[in-house]
Amino acid sequence: MADAFVPYPSPTEDARAVDYRFTEAELSEIQRHVAKYPDKTSAVMPALWVAQEKFGVLSTGAIQLVADTLGLSFAHVYGVATFYTMYLKEGVPAEPFHLVEVCTCFTCGECGGREVYNHAKQSLGVNEHGRSPDGKFYLREAECLGACDTPVVLQLNNRRMVFRTDAQKFDAVIAQLRRGETPAFESVPRSEVAG
Ligand code: FES
Repeated sequence: MADAFVPYPSPTEDARAVDYRFTEAELSEIQRHVAKYPDKTSAVMPALWVAQEKFGVLSTGAIQLVADTLGLSFAHVYGVATFYTMYLKEGVPAEPFHLVEVCTCFTCGECGGREVYNHAKQSLGVNEHGRSPDGKFYLREAECLGACDTPVVLQLNNRRMVFRTDAQKFDAVIAQLRRGETPAFESVPRSEVAG
């Protein structure tokens, strides 16, 4: 079966009948971010988050909507969206899915990140695009997630981080997600922070 993933920009995504509009609540949220900064260009990143949460992927239509909403050029918003890896620019399953990212950068890479990532690929059975056969998981490598003192770092759905991940912990987290549970917030033990 042909895979649904296509390179960015996604023609199929924009060929779909997607209504590229924000709701009043979403517009209010974006305006709340705009108000925090002296320059509205600073609100591009949070506005892209709102768009990604709504549309699942930042297609050209979604980027244009953010640009129009903020009164900025498409090129500027496109530049931000394509610079940062946490913004999804590839076609992803339309149904709800979990974005699972394993850091293989710097410290995490030295501390087993590659091994955890390879385990994750095998455990989830993902194809070359990182997608699991059931469409529920989208796996990819992450650049440094800013928690280098707790390798290997796993990030879920761009929000929740799991620290000190090994193969066993990874499988336990995936089992939780499959049951519809969210892994508990995990703080770094104070003894480790204090050294
Ligand atoms: Fe993994 Fe920094 S290298 S969080």
